[in-house]
Amino acid sequence: MPNFITQFLALLLFQNYLNTLASASTNDSLSYSNLQKDCQDLFFNVTIETTTNKNISLSNVSLQPQLNQFIQDAISTNVIESAIVGSFNVSGTFTIGATLCDPKGQKPTTIEHLTHGIPHDRTYWDLLIGNLSWVDVALAYGYSTLAIDRLGVGQSEMPDGLNIVQTGVNIEIANSINNMLRAGQIGNREFSKIINVGHSYGSYITNGLGVFHPSSADAFVLTGFGHAKGNTPALLMAWDSVPAHLSQTNPALRSAPSSHYAAPMGLNSLTQSYFHYPQ
Ligand SMILES: *[C@@H]1O[C@H](CO)[C@@H](O)[C@H](O)[C@H]1NC(C)=O
Ligand SMILES: *[C@@H]1O[C@H](CO)[C@@H](O)[C@H](O)[C@H]1NC(C)=O
Ligand SMILES: *[C@@H]1O[C@H](CO)[C@@H](O)[C@H](O)[C@H]1NC(C)=O
Ligand SMILES: *[C@@H]1O[C@H](CO)[C@@H](O)[C@H](O)[C@H]1NC(C)=O
Ligand SMILES: *[C@@H]1O[C@H](CO)[C@@H](O)[C@H](O)[C@H]1NC(C)=O
Ligand SMILES: *[C@@H]1O[C@H](CO)[C@@H](O)[C@H](O)[C@H]1NC(C)=O
Repeated sequence: MPNFITQFLALLLFQNYLNTLASASTNDSLSYSNLQKDCQDLFFNVTIETTTNKNISLSNVSLQPQLNQFIQDAISTNVIESAIVGSFNVSGTFTIGATLCDPKGQKPTTIEHLTHGIPHDRTYWDLLIGNLSWVDVALAYGYSTLAIDRLGVGQSEMPDGLNIVQTGVNIEIANSINNMLRAGQIGNREFSKIINVGHSYGSYITNGLGVFHPSSADAFVLTGFGHAKGNTPALLMAWDSVPAHLSQTNPALRSAPSSHYAAPMGLNSLTQSYFHYPQ
């Protein structure tokens, strides 16, 4: 079962192209639906280089009291913005987990490259809750889909959550994945058209892709995206987060790095943040 991962600073520092504190939540009985489609789970290595990562000087956020204080500071002070002490270059190869889906029996040449938000993982796009599947609709329109786990999330590699897992790196990963899709290096066939679709923080990355690599995709779709940040403090509180490596509800998260990865406590955190009752 893939994990949910969260990157708090992403929500706090929109203007700075910056994010950190990745991590995961509970096992919420979400999984791929399996109707009229051919899906395969894949891993691939993505090599990137970026000059835009920030050097963030923050003390260790490993234990619950440190995380609680971090969230309080993040909401009420500029302590995080003032922790940026410069930029540095990151280059490296990271392993990414993803799911490639085709309409049953078809091999489209146009693909939607899907980037999830916080605190989800790739399953966001194909939930078994009612019929809330973006993937099913995309396939019905004749597209393939590639839903990735962002770096630091789910089945993807979990490097340093503070200084490596940042928006600059995520943008370069999105661009490299597009290059690989066009070159036939993912799923053993070449895609001639790519539509990058983001949700929430995934839209933030997708927007950055359009800014830094405008020809990377043929179209950019931003969902759950806006300039208003008024709800961010409530969202951070609603998540009721725990340090991922101390998770009681999801043993799989205990292998997360011991610092700078956090997870929403449970199903209520997610329903309060994302679902509308009764529909
Ligand atoms: C997680 O999900 C699996 C099945 O998908 C289930 O067997 C397991 O009990 C769940 N664990 C928790 C902690 O809910
Ligand atoms: C990614 O690269 C590492 C290190 O070279 C290698 O061990 C691993 O098998 C590669 N993974 C994939 C999916 O190619
Ligand atoms: C980040 O900033 C700290 C504090 O100024 C400094 O000691 C460290 O060398 C910097 N790291 C990099 C990679 O530039
Ligand atoms: C952060 O704290 C954890 C747990 O106390 C410890 O294992 C880790 O080495 C610390 N990291 C740093 C950079 O101090
Ligand atoms: C980072 O990369 C840029 C562009 O390649 C280069 O000009 C700069 O000197 C590099 N900075 C460091 C600290 O290596
Ligand atoms: C989705 O499910 C709802 C409730 O079961 C149903 O009313 C609706 O027709 C379904 N929509 C589609 C597109 O299948």
